[in-house]
Amino acid sequence: MSPLLQVRNLETRFVTADGVVRAVNGISYDIHPGETVGIVGESGSGKSVGVLSILRLIPSPPGEISGGEIRFENRDLLKCDRATLRHIRGNKISLIFQDPMTSLNPVLTVGKQITESIKLHLGLTQTEAEKRAIALLEKVGISDAKRRLSSYPHQFSGGMRQRVMIAMGLACDPQLLIADEPTTALDVTVQAQVVDLIKELRKEIGMAVIWITHDLALMAGLSDRILVMYAGQIVEEAPVSQLYNTPRHPYTIGLLESLPRPDRDLGETLPAIEGIPPDLTDYPKGCPFAPRCRYAIDRCFEEDPDLEVVGTGHKVACWVKPEIDKNQIL
Ligand SMILES: Nc1ncnc2c1ncn2[C@@H]1O[C@H](COP(=O)(O)OP(=O)(O)OP(=O)(O)O)[C@@H](O)[C@H]1O
Ligand SMILES: [Mg+2]
Repeated sequence: MSPLLQVRNLETRFVTADGVVRAVNGISYDIHPGETVGIVGESGSGKSVGVLSILRLIPSPPGEISGGEIRFENRDLLKCDRATLRHIRGNKISLIFQDPMTSLNPVLTVGKQITESIKLHLGLTQTEAEKRAIALLEKVGISDAKRRLSSYPHQFSGGMRQRVMIAMGLACDPQLLIADEPTTALDVTVQAQVVDLIKELRKEIGMAVIWITHDLALMAGLSDRILVMYAGQIVEEAPVSQLYNTPRHPYTIGLLESLPRPDRDLGETLPAIEGIPPDLTDYPKGCPFAPRCRYAIDRCFEEDPDLEVVGTGHKVACWVKPEIDKNQIL
C-alpha cells in the first residue's frame, strides 16, 4: 500500500531575538491509509510544530520551514500554492487541538460554523449542509443536535465543545485526522469517551489518524505505530507492541519506566528521566539525549546517530541500542 503522507527530512525553526530555535530537525516518516500513528515525547520536543508544518500553519515570522518535503497525493505540500493547500486543509486533512476555543469562533453558532465549512468544501446547499451537520453532531454524541445547532461554543461544556470540534474536523470525511492532544484538558472519563469516539469513527470513515500525546499509556490502546520524539528528532519508531516490549532507545525506556503500573503502590513516586532537554538555540553536537542517558558512550557526545532499522517497522537512532526486555524495565 503506498503511503498517504510522506514526510522527508522536515526542518522547522524559529528565528527569535534569543537565537534560532531548532524545533524540528530532519524528521521523516510515512502514514498509510487508515492507520493510527501516535507521536509521543516530552513538552517542547517538536510534536506540534512537526504536524503544523505539514499544513504550513507555522506562524512566519518567526517560524520557517527550512528544509524537507511533505508528499500527500503526489504533491509536495511545501511547494503547492495556497489555494491547493486550503482545499487539502478542509477536505482531506483535518486538525483538532487541545483547546477547542482556539478553533471555534466564539461569536458564531456551532451550526453556522459547521455548515459553512461543509458548504465551502463539499459544495452542498444550506439544507443539505444542515442535515449533515445534525448527523455529525449526533455521531459525536451530542443529544438534541438539531436544537444545539443554534448554540454558541460557550454554551457547551468543555467535553461537549471538544466533541463539536471533532464533528467539525470530520465534516468533510478527511483522509487524515491530526489530533494534537485533544483530550489533555478533559477529565479522565470524558477523555476516555473522546478516545472511544475517535476509534469508532476511524473504523467507520477509514481515515488515518496522527495522535499526539504525552501519555504513552493512552497510546497503547489506540495506535498501530508510535513515533518517539526528542529535541525535534524522531529517536524511535515501532509498532506498538514492539515499542512496549522491546524498546531500544534509552529515552523510550525512560518513558516506559515513568508509566504508572498496577504493581506499583499509588504513593510510590515514579522514576522520572533525570535532567532536561537541550537548549534548542544551541543544539548539541552529538546525540541530543546523551547528557541524560545512562547508556551513553564517548561516541554519543561526538556524533548524532541516524535512525537505523532494527526490526520490521522498528527504527532507532542510538549508537548503543541497549537490548532490554519489558521485565527489565525498572
Ligand atoms: N512561535 C514560536 N516562537 C519561538 N519558538 C517556538 C514557537 N513555537 C514553538 N516554538 C518552540 O519550538 C519547540 C517545539 O515546540 P512544540 O510546540 O512543537 O513542542 P511540543 O512537543 O508540541 O510540546 P507540548 O507537549 O508542550 O505541546 C519548543 O522549543 C518551542 O519553544
Ligand atoms: Mg504541542
